[in-house]
Amino acid sequence: MLGWGGAGATVALGGRAAVDAIAEQSAPSPEELARAAAFAFETATIESGHQPGIATPQQAHASFIAFDLDASLTASRIKALLQILTDDSARLMTGTAPIADQEPEMAGDPAGLTVTMGYGPGLVDRVNPAAKPSWLKPLPGYKIDKLEDRWSGGDFLLQICADDPITLAHARRVLLKDARAFTTVRWVQDGFLGARGARVTGTTMRNLFGQLDGTVNPRTSEDLGQVVWIGSDSGESAWLHGGSSLVIRRISMDLERWDEVDRPGREASIGRRLDSGAPLTGTNEHDAPDFEARTPQGFHVIGPAAHIRRARGDGAERILRRPYNYDTALSGAAGSGAQVNDSGLIFAAYQANPEKQFAPMQARLAEADLLNTWTTPIGSAVFAIPGLGELGEIPGKALF
Ligand code: HEM
Repeated sequence: MLGWGGAGATVALGGRAAVDAIAEQSAPSPEELARAAAFAFETATIESGHQPGIATPQQAHASFIAFDLDASLTASRIKALLQILTDDSARLMTGTAPIADQEPEMAGDPAGLTVTMGYGPGLVDRVNPAAKPSWLKPLPGYKIDKLEDRWSGGDFLLQICADDPITLAHARRVLLKDARAFTTVRWVQDGFLGARGARVTGTTMRNLFGQLDGTVNPRTSEDLGQVVWIGSDSGESAWLHGGSSLVIRRISMDLERWDEVDRPGREASIGRRLDSGAPLTGTNEHDAPDFEARTPQGFHVIGPAAHIRRARGDGAERILRRPYNYDTALSGAAGSGAQVNDSGLIFAAYQANPEKQFAPMQARLAEADLLNTWTTPIGSAVFAIPGLGELGEIPGKALF
């Protein structure tokens, strides 16, 4: 990602001074712009065998779009549709306008754009049911769930991420134009992190509860190999090799009730400090939590229902979290005094096997996680994320 040196520090100035300082310091040089254009392409090359948008450092904006395929679509027409979307994506990610782009100038700054494709159970059933992995199905229900159809399921997914919302809007429009003759949009979820240039590159994002979110995540290629990628020795079909799975949970966060909690209560619910993100047993964000440490009264410092203790369990299951905040229109009738934020997390998690990794973790959280007091899963979907031969080739070519 671009390193816009110093911009993060200037934000603290506030007002006009901050704007001037940012304008002076953060204007990208031509070299940086060229690097932005090349970024996604490099990523795809470096992650050879994997789709971009998974191990890629998170961009500031994301749009997740789930489609239902028209009933009349045959396997060969699904393949043709995917080839068109693949061509469009490869061009957009490398800063080139797709063939039928009516605003080709808008493709010029890819701003870290990645397009990641996911195949839902409906698509695989129609194309090659024998090659469907056993985990490609809805997650089991959890007692905390209040799932709504309008945020759940889907035959096909596009995850589009970029650092610039204009780039993203343009990519989305081009892709939707080519998809809409054969599909119906089932749901769209738009999310955001801190804007590029507003914070020091590489720092952990804050969610809308104000927590640093993303501290513990697999990052090295060895970790990603163990946690995220489906290997050729996994026993899964060839189209999945180099791929993964994506679970998307839309989790609403009740900011009004969160307002009622004091700071120690907020920190206890996670097991980490709000300012630094450090575990309650440590000083710095990346200090290892001490789950054995006790208070003088004999209670665990990181309590039995603290989110990080429940999520980690015995450490046997791990996932790659790639979540985005959402904050949509206020709800409640005008004048009713009930206008409140509709906020939460688009909790996107990548793992080689959702049944073995995501599901047991979610079950532990559903059973007893202090965060459940303020959070409610309202959407859920599972997609297979096929491996990628080369940029421009349909992901999971061997499925067809
Ligand atoms: C850690 C917030 C939902 C899995 C964390 C942390 C925060 C957080 C603040 C600590 C910092 C970090 O390591 O990132 C939230 C919020 C959620 C949510 C606000 C819902 C709105 C979930 C769900 C899962 C999950 C649904 C999985 C099913 C994890 C894991 C960790 C974590 C694996 C790292 C635990 C470790 O230290 O090993 N979460 N989380 N979270 N969360 Fe969540």
